[in-house]
Amino acid sequence: MVNEMEKVYGITPHGGKLVNLKDLSVSSLEAAKKLPKLTINNWTISDIELLAIGGFSPLTGFMSKTDYEAVVNHMHLANGIIWSIPITLPVSEEDAEKIEVNEKVTLVDADGAIYATMTVTDKYRPDKTLEAQNVYGTTEEAHPGVKKMYSTGPVYLGGPINLLKMPSHGDFNDYYMEPIETRKLFHDLGWQTIVGFQTRNPIHRAHEFIQKTALESVDGLLLNPLVGETKADDIPADVRMKSYETILHYYYPKDRVRLVIYPAAMRYAGPREAILHAIVRKNYGCTHFIVGRDHAGVGDYYGTYEAQELITSVEDEMGMQFFKFENAFYCNKCGSMATNKTCPHDEKNRISLSGTKVRKMLRDGIVPPKEVSRPEVAKVLIEGMRKQVAHE
Ligand code: ADX
Repeated sequence: MVNEMEKVYGITPHGGKLVNLKDLSVSSLEAAKKLPKLTINNWTISDIELLAIGGFSPLTGFMSKTDYEAVVNHMHLANGIIWSIPITLPVSEEDAEKIEVNEKVTLVDADGAIYATMTVTDKYRPDKTLEAQNVYGTTEEAHPGVKKMYSTGPVYLGGPINLLKMPSHGDFNDYYMEPIETRKLFHDLGWQTIVGFQTRNPIHRAHEFIQKTALESVDGLLLNPLVGETKADDIPADVRMKSYETILHYYYPKDRVRLVIYPAAMRYAGPREAILHAIVRKNYGCTHFIVGRDHAGVGDYYGTYEAQELITSVEDEMGMQFFKFENAFYCNKCGSMATNKTCPHDEKNRISLSGTKVRKMLRDGIVPPKEVSRPEVAKVLIEGMRKQVAHE
């Protein structure tokens, strides 16, 4: 139910309007109990949440066949608005058979808890190979995003949703804000220009360098780590959150940064996902977005600057601005962080930095050196990983 009373501050949301699909009334919940039920997984719950709070504005539900095909083939919704990743609800053959088009269903989790209702306006069979090729740039099952997509049901349901229950984010609830709230926050802080930062890794010196370089040119930074589903060998979100809290405490000006979780699942779709990441951050009120090297990439599937190139090709449609950074490293001769644009020294003086490298060190029990990770951060990461190993 759209609450028109809530004022939307800041940059124009994607597609013009910040969507609100929350309906937390008791009567709606009661009515939902009487509808046919469809069981959904955590990935779908996170999509529903992003749809409902307006993170995925202007979408108001799972994509129809027409929108899906327009996004897969042309990277735009059928109405011409740029959109890069299909937001879909895959179901099994059995579930697809049970649900009629135009039927209203209740979406429940594995324990039967009600999250949303959906009016199914569309039921279609996607060409998943085409989706893999166009969205992920590969049809290989070794790609974690493609593997995930192939593993879901063969039929997609499309249609508008209403969220009846807010998912809990456990220990991260203190860092949870909806786009309408971050917009109000930025307004209250007097920030007119805000740079958004996406990450799924513990924070390292290259992240800090590009964030702070951007922060020199804007009023504030929204540090917006993704805490939804990631692949098994990524560092768990709770350990990562500790790394962000720690670095903010020791190394960032308090009045220029806000840490807010991004409750989405990671697709690892590289260039196309960079566009989605930017759109969502615009909806959260960011006027700028950082795209560094191999943004949202995995393995060797994407070129180092492919995400930046794709964004450059559609920048005039995005309605926001971008900070694009070259590969940042620590240079022993410079005695600082640098990129090829600023450092004249030989490769052998440079310590390269990546999430993959930090993850490997942590898994091998190696404390990342200060050129890679701030010592205070290295400490909480090592502790966090030890606890995790003890748990396994
Ligand atoms: S991502 O999958 O969420 O993109 P990661 O958390 O590693 O992964 O990256 C967050 C952001 O920092 C992305 O924009 C990425 O391109 C950028 N980035 C990470 N490492 C570097 C680096 N060494 N140099 C420049 N940009 C980087």
